[in-house]
Amino acid sequence: MRITVNGTSHEVDVEPDMPLLWVLRDELGLTGTKYGCGIAQCGACTVHVDGLAVRACQHPIGTLDGARITTIEGLGEEDSVHPVQRAWIETQVAQCGYCQSGQIMQAISLLEGDPNPSDETIDRLMSGNLCRCGTYPRIRAAVRLAASRMGA
Ligand code: FES
Ligand code: FES
Repeated sequence: MRITVNGTSHEVDVEPDMPLLWVLRDELGLTGTKYGCGIAQCGACTVHVDGLAVRACQHPIGTLDGARITTIEGLGEEDSVHPVQRAWIETQVAQCGYCQSGQIMQAISLLEGDPNPSDETIDRLMSGNLCRCGTYPRIRAAVRLAASRMGA
């Protein structure tokens, strides 16, 4: 299978039922995407496939030939982070941090679909990404901050 990850093309020689999450972490060394539950329930493994947020633990690589994948590592550089990452830093969202790369990928997808979301929309669309540290109020604040800047 050939996939493009963060703009780089990769030929991946693995069993077709290997989940994308394993390919990213174990084959390509992109460990920013996290393993939480493995059953599509927590969102820690959220990445973008062809522009849509998906749970990498539940997508066999055999279904993704030719796909364009973006992970947290592909969003920006340290001196030019994505506006959502900048809002996350300024709002000090993270506690333990484990869920946060998935939260940021989900938040970007949310804002691409709704550039000016209400608090209710943010809460509804972000609550499927589980955070055992309970950072949801700061997630909401960071999404609103990013929305205000990205819309400006
Ligand atoms: S590890 Fe994929 S949703 Fe939890
Ligand atoms: S910041 Fe700890 S699980 Fe979300």
